[in-house]
Amino acid sequence: MARILLGVCGGIAAYKALEFVRLATGEGHAVRVVQTEASQRFVGAASFAGLTGAPVLVGEFERDPARGAFPDQAPPDHEPLSHLELVANADVYLIAPTSANTLAKLAHGLADNLLTSAALAATCPVVVAPAMNNHMWEHAATQGNAALLRERGVTVLEPGVGRLGSKGEWGAGRLPEPADLLAAVHAATAGATPTAAPDTPAAPHLVGLRVLVTAGGTREPLDSVRYLGNRSSGRMGFALASEAASLGADVTVIAANVSIARDPRVRYVDVETAAELQAACEAHFAATDLLFMAAAVVDFRPASAHDGKMKKGEDEALSLSLERTPDVLAGLAAQRRQGQTLVGFAAEHGDGALAYGRDKLARKGVDAIVVNDIGRKDIGFDVDANEVTIVTAGGERHVPRAPKAEIARAILTEALALRAASPPVAEGA
Ligand code: CTP
Repeated sequence: MARILLGVCGGIAAYKALEFVRLATGEGHAVRVVQTEASQRFVGAASFAGLTGAPVLVGEFERDPARGAFPDQAPPDHEPLSHLELVANADVYLIAPTSANTLAKLAHGLADNLLTSAALAATCPVVVAPAMNNHMWEHAATQGNAALLRERGVTVLEPGVGRLGSKGEWGAGRLPEPADLLAAVHAATAGATPTAAPDTPAAPHLVGLRVLVTAGGTREPLDSVRYLGNRSSGRMGFALASEAASLGADVTVIAANVSIARDPRVRYVDVETAAELQAACEAHFAATDLLFMAAAVVDFRPASAHDGKMKKGEDEALSLSLERTPDVLAGLAAQRRQGQTLVGFAAEHGDGALAYGRDKLARKGVDAIVVNDIGRKDIGFDVDANEVTIVTAGGERHVPRAPKAEIARAILTEALALRAASPPVAEGA
């Protein structure tokens, strides 16, 4: 049994906080609730008071009839300061939903209402469950605030991906389900510091979907020791695969010469050349729902590879005869079936990047092209950060510089949105 202080911010997801209280009190936990003023526009204090059996506080100067005690405690015989007494008595402080505004205040130590003052005074574990519009969640400021709080030991739960509160909106920003919030509370009070969020409602959205990712760069042999290749590390593809696995997908990666750590939840097929990559893709494609073609496929290969090691002899120069490799992605797109979503990648330099991306979208017959600017040193090859623009028939979406894991989530969100916009037609329909 734990004493749970629940902070509720303004947002459509506030209704889920009621269900959380019902679950928590049903398990025998003692719950007190503090609300922001804005949250009262969504859910009234009377509902929380009824479910917790204790007064609900909003203002810092409001008198607490329970004098900071939880329902299982006798009130003290003095009048303590609510924001200090409530957190002093609590085993855990859960803020759910946490709005973007409150997240920013928490990150920067602002204490301008009872909810934020209590957070500043809390010595118990603090669990923050953000819920907001996907663009607000993905904004660099919000991401920075979440990272800052995590660095300080606050558990910031990852919001789920899916249908959002406002009509027609889809993306990352859903409040985890009440049962997941309770699991996070259990983990926090058990002394565990969960690094990953518990399964959020995001999970069901990729459960049952088969995701195929290509990653790395192909190598085309010149002789038995030399090859034509490129600098792709495979990080972006691997990040996509791990993120998809976290969301419950069945994931296969076709890895072209990738030497970074592997995710035990993902199946890997290793290949070296464009021809091997093509064969592996062809073998897996029919059973794929979502394809992410992140591999850098060498466009020209030596027309014939030399047997053994080429000797330079007296030659001052060497001419190579090269031939085109197959366009694997365009080949797969030509045989796509209803219900498959195809995403290609384009590494481009500078100004014309988006125009090239748009051209590839049409030329390759895919649903989206993820364009990144390889002219920049701070993103792209061998760097754990990226900044991309996702080009679709409906427009362009810029994803600001972020770790590749976050870029991966944004790409998955976009791919899911594309699927939602053109749902798979049932066979025989
Ligand atoms: N691609 C592919 N097979 C190739 C070349 C590229 O499947 N032989 C895929 C890549 O994996 C990527 C997308 O096509 O998802 C775009 O790759 P890119 O090299 O930018 O495209 P190209 O058609 O080769 O265009 P460019 O003329 O810019 O080289």
